[in-house]
Parts: sequence; C-alpha cells; structure tokens
Amino acid sequence: MKKTALDIIEMKNKGKKITMLTAYDYVLGSILDEAGTDMLLVGDTMGMVVHGHSTTLPVTLEDSIRHTQAVARGVKSAMVIGDLPFGTFQVSAEEAVRNAIKLVKYGNAETIKLEGGSERIPAIKGILDAGIPVMGHLGLTPQSVHRFGGFKIQGRTEETAKFILEESKNLEEAGIFSLVLEAIPWKVAKMITESLSIPTIGIGAGPYCDGQVLVTYDMLGYFDFKAKFVKRYLNLKEQILKAIQEYNREVREGIFPDTSYSYE
Ligand code: KIV
Repeated sequence: MKKTALDIIEMKNKGKKITMLTAYDYVLGSILDEAGTDMLLVGDTMGMVVHGHSTTLPVTLEDSIRHTQAVARGVKSAMVIGDLPFGTFQVSAEEAVRNAIKLVKYGNAETIKLEGGSERIPAIKGILDAGIPVMGHLGLTPQSVHRFGGFKIQGRTEETAKFILEESKNLEEAGIFSLVLEAIPWKVAKMITESLSIPTIGIGAGPYCDGQVLVTYDMLGYFDFKAKFVKRYLNLKEQILKAIQEYNREVREGIFPDTSYSYE
C-alpha cells in the first residue's frame, strides 16, 4: 500500500524512525522502493549528481517533472516527493501553487517539498489549499547557497539556532506534514524535533531527528564528493570502474562475446 503524509506523521507518534532517500530515475527508484524506503525525494540535487552542475540552481520545473515521472513509474509503496526547483515558487504564491500542481499532475508526485521559512507561508498555504501535502526544508537550504556564502553549516550561534527553531514552529503552524533539517548541529535538531508534533527528517543534523535522508548517489559511493555526515554503504564507483575496465579488456582481447552470448 502507498505511504501517505498521514502515515508519515503517524510514524512519529508511534516512535518509528522514518527513512527517506533521493531518487532520480525509474530503476533506482524501484530498487529503493523494493528495499522498503518510506519516502523517495526526487530532489533538485539532480542538478549536481545527475546533470553535473556545481549547485542546484539551474534545475528547471521541466527537469523536476521528467525525473519525478520516471521515479513514480517504478514505485509501489514509498511516498514520492517532488521538489520545487529554484525560481518556481519564490516569485508569488500563485506561481508556486501552479507549479506544485504541475509537479503532481504531470510528474505524479504525491507531495511536494520546498525550501525556506516564514516568507514561504503564503505559498505553502496555497499549495495545501490545492490538496497537496507540503514538506518544509530549513537549515542549509542549498537554493540559498549564494546568500550563505557557500554550503555552510547553519544554526551554530544561539541566535541562528533560535531563528531556525522559531521558523520550524511557523512552518508547522502553516500546515507542513514534515520538515527536512539540513546541516545543523545535532543539539539544535534535537530541540526542534522535540518541539514539533510533525516529523523532522535530518541530513547532517544528527541522530535525534524522527527520520533521515541522504542523497542516494552519496551513500552508494557513486559520486566523488563526500560530506562529513555521509556514511558510504557501498563503493559503487569502484565496483563500476572495475566492471567497465574488465568489459573493455575482454572486448579488446576478443574474450567477450563468445558464442554462448550469440544467436545460432
Ligand atoms: O534536493 C535534495 O536532494 C534535497 C535533500 C538533500 C534533502 O533537498
């Protein structure tokens, strides 16, 4: 059965940890789903790990729709979350609602995520009014990389920690069903998690969040860059390199294909 926003909230109430990973294509999406992951985010990190940009800023709504469609086709039970890219929800609440609807209507997302605090409340309320559950995202919000002066940990001072806590409460009051907390000190994430009745999903925010998310390419070791908070569960790049080198050698030496891989 498909997981819904209500199921995710219920998991916090029952003290069950929530798992979330990013997915950008049909095959990986279906594997993450088969492995029992609760939520799949078709994140705008696709701009970096799939399309090779240095930030998430160039990702378009069309990119997001296309990749969300592909992931949604492979998923039976995980919730599919579409990510609103930079420039698709900041200009006005109406534009945000229109773009969130497109992500659901054409991309087959079941919920959407958007970055930012109180300044996004009109957009969040409009999207909720359209019947779409919204996931928030605070802390290091990568779409604001230029304002932060780089991908820097947030909430390290008492003042900024308090600000993120207040903003978490504001977003909860606006009606989001869960909140991503990215790259903040674990004590701040713990305080926020204990203050909210909706689940927090941490990435680089320590062990006390209600759930965790990682960029799948990072945790599989498919992507070279590794942040401190990433645990590598596999060295996929090394394994792929080995396999491709072997294929290249076998083709060059006439080992592959032999007749067993050929038609009579
Ligand atoms: O776009 C993304 O993949 C994200 C996660 C890192 C939370 O926002």
